Amino acid sequence: MTATTTTVEAAVRVERVSRVYGHGAAAVHAVQDVSFTIAPGELVALVGRSGSGKTTLLNCIGGLDRPDEGRVVVDGREVSSLDEAGLVELRRDVVSFVFQTFGLVPVLSAAENVGVPLRLRRMPTPDREARVQLLLDLVGLGGHELQRPAEMSGGQQQRVAIARALASSPRLLVADEPTGQLDTETGTAVMALLRAVVEAEGMTAIVSTHDPLMMSLADRVVRLADGRLVDA
Ligand SMILES: Nc1ncnc2c1ncn2[C@@H]1O[C@H](COP(=O)(O)OP(=O)(O)O)[C@@H](O)[C@H]1O
Ligand SMILES: [Mg+2]
Repeated sequence: MTATTTTVEAAVRVERVSRVYGHGAAAVHAVQDVSFTIAPGELVALVGRSGSGKTTLLNCIGGLDRPDEGRVVVDGREVSSLDEAGLVELRRDVVSFVFQTFGLVPVLSAAENVGVPLRLRRMPTPDREARVQLLLDLVGLGGHELQRPAEMSGGQQQRVAIARALASSPRLLVADEPTGQLDTETGTAVMALLRAVVEAEGMTAIVSTHDPLMMSLADRVVRLADGRLVDA
């Protein structure tokens, strides 16, 4: 590299990633030879019809699954070669997920759900409680601290899940169809919230979606068809 070219290290580097489920005649090539990078602070929308490989790719990026070929580098760490302990650390300290089905713990209150990642990091109780309050306020759920998931609407539950995802100040937020179970109006509000928090926290994010509005809020759209990248 010469002194005149400054290259910012990508926040996410996906290099020739493939993931095959099953073997032989039953093999499903869920992701095939996909490469792209995400710059720090960028919000990328991952789009493609159902079955195009979005969830598989997101799971490989966030360390929930491993590619069969290729590699993934997040924040300088080669995710695809981490051992179990490394993956646990990655999910605790670097990457947070938001899922379509929220994934909250039913027996815990909103505040307790948001506090889970902070307990894992052994944050002292007063600090944890203060941060949980700040996060719930940020997502517009001040006053709902004690409610359990079943006592909240879908949109409120997803906002709790977003607050929980933000709790550990991840470098990368991975959201898999976060508005897929929400009505249009609620989904729009959740998307605007995601866009705003990514910006406010200086995070990098990749969000799979069918929603044209989410695509318009993204900095860039990455499109999959039958497991392959297609030009947007
Ligand atoms: N655990 C699995 N076992 C076998 N096939 C799977 C599995 N998960 C996903 N697939 C298949 O891989 C392809 C991509 O699926 P997926 O990544 O879930 O796509 P999307 O999230 O875009 O709907 C689909 O053909 C799907 O049926
Ligand atoms: Mg999916």
